[in-house]
Amino acid sequence: MLYIGVDLGTSAVKVLLMEGNGTIKKTVSREYPLYFPNPGWSEQKPEDWYAQSIAGIKELLEGEDKSQVAGISFGGQMHGLVILDENDEVIRPALLWNDGRTYEETDYLNQVIGQDKLSEYTANIAFTGFTAPKILWVKNKEPENFARIQKIMLPKDYIAYKLTGVFATDVSDASGMLLFDVKNRCWSKEMCEICGITVDMLAGIYESYEKIGVVKADVAAELGIGENVIVAAGAGDNAAAAVGTGTVGEGMCNISLGTSGTIFISSKEFRVDQYNALHAFAHADGTYHLMGCMLSAASCNKWWMEEILGTKAYADEQTAITKLGENHVYFLPYLMGERSPHNNPKARGTFIGMTMDTSRADMYQAVLEGVAFALRDSFEVAKSLGIQIERTKICGGGAKSLLWKKMIANILNVKVDVIESEEGPGLGGAMLAAVANGEYPDVETAAAAIVKVVDTVVPEPELVEKYEARYQQFRQIYPACKPLFDVIA
Ligand code: XUL
Repeated sequence: MLYIGVDLGTSAVKVLLMEGNGTIKKTVSREYPLYFPNPGWSEQKPEDWYAQSIAGIKELLEGEDKSQVAGISFGGQMHGLVILDENDEVIRPALLWNDGRTYEETDYLNQVIGQDKLSEYTANIAFTGFTAPKILWVKNKEPENFARIQKIMLPKDYIAYKLTGVFATDVSDASGMLLFDVKNRCWSKEMCEICGITVDMLAGIYESYEKIGVVKADVAAELGIGENVIVAAGAGDNAAAAVGTGTVGEGMCNISLGTSGTIFISSKEFRVDQYNALHAFAHADGTYHLMGCMLSAASCNKWWMEEILGTKAYADEQTAITKLGENHVYFLPYLMGERSPHNNPKARGTFIGMTMDTSRADMYQAVLEGVAFALRDSFEVAKSLGIQIERTKICGGGAKSLLWKKMIANILNVKVDVIESEEGPGLGGAMLAAVANGEYPDVETAAAAIVKVVDTVVPEPELVEKYEARYQQFRQIYPACKPLFDVIA
C-alpha cells in the first residue's frame, strides 16, 4: 500500500509518497506566492494551495502503481483563516499564521475579555497569528466579507474539503484557533459567541489519525487513483512533524526549523503553562503537547542569504563561520514580530554589537545564532515549568545544516537526534493516513516502527559554557529594545 503525505507549508507544498512500512519513495515540492500587502500582513490564496497540491500529487504519482494508493493525509500550516461563502467560494485570501495585523483584536481578547477567561475556555491566550482574532478583524474591518461567511476552516482542511467534500478538522490544528476547548477536545461555545459566529460555521472535529472520508470520484479520476482512497484528518504541521520524528508519548521534544521555528514537547497529560507563554494544544497521537513558536527561523537564514547577500551558496557562506561561542555580534530574529515568548507583533529584526572588524561571516553567524538563542527563550519557559529535556529531535529545512544543529545543541545544551528524513510534516501526514487505514494500530506504534535516528549531535562542555555567557547577553537585548519597537513599528 502507498500513502501520500501533504505538507502544506508557507513557501511551498511538499508531497511525499510512503510505502506502508515507512519507506519514503519520493517527494515533490511546488511553490506558491506569499503576499505581504501591508507591513506585518501575510496572505496566501487557498486556490493556489489546492492547485499546487493537485499538481504535486500528479507529479508524485508519475510512473507509480496508482492502484496501490490507499490513503492521503496532511501536515498543514496552522492558524490560517480560510472563509467560504454559501457557494463554497473563497471570500478573501487567507490570513496566515505569521500575520500581525490583528493586534487591536488580540488586545481586546487578552485585555477586555481577559486572559483568564480565554485560558479557561481554550487553555490559551490570544496571539495575533491565531484564528479567532482574525475572525474579529474581518468582522471589524471587512463587515461585508464577514456577513458572507458560511464556513470557517484551516488551510489543510480546505484541501481535505476539496478532496472529499467533508468539512472536517483535527484536534491539533483546531487547538490553534482559540475557538477550541483543548482539554475536552470540542468547540468552545463561549469563544464562538465572543467572535460573533455560530458553531455550525466550524468543521466537524476528528482525531488526526481518523478517516474523514474518501476522495470524490472526479478527484480520483483526475489523479488516476481509486475511488476508495481514504483521507485522514491529519494535523497541524508541528504535530504532524512530531509524528514524523517520533515525538509521541510522554516528555519527548522536537525542534522544527522551518519558516517558523518551534519547540514541541509531547505530554500524555493535559497541562497548561500558567503564564500561557507556551501554547497548550492537543497532539496528533491522541494526547497533548506544549509548544513555543517563533515566527521567523529558517526564513531569517533565507532573508539574510538571498535578500541581503544575494546568493544561494548556503554551504559556502557557512564554511566561513568559525567563531562558535565567540561572536560579539547579536541578531534578534523578529523579522515578522515575535510570538513565543514575547507575544509582540511590533518586535523587529535587530543587529547589535558590530565593530570595524566585523565580517560578513560574523553577521551570518549572528543570524543563525539569533534563531537558536530565541528558541532557547521558549526552552527556558519549559524548564521553568519543571520539564526536563535532555535530548530533542529536529526537522525542517534548517535541519539540513550541521552547523546550525551544532549551535542549537550547544546553546540549548541538549543532544540533538537527527532522523533519517527531515521531512517531518509530510512523513507525519503519510503516517497518519496509514494509521487511519489500519496499517498500524495507533500512532505510537507507527512511530516506533518507522522513525529511525541516524545521528546525534552532542553538546561540547566548553562550547556550552561559552554560549551560556553569550545567551545571558542576548536575553538582555530584547527588553532594552522593546520601548523602541513600539515607536519604530
Ligand atoms: C505554529 C505556527 C507555525 C505554523 C507554520 O503555532 O504558527 O509553526 O504552523 O506553518
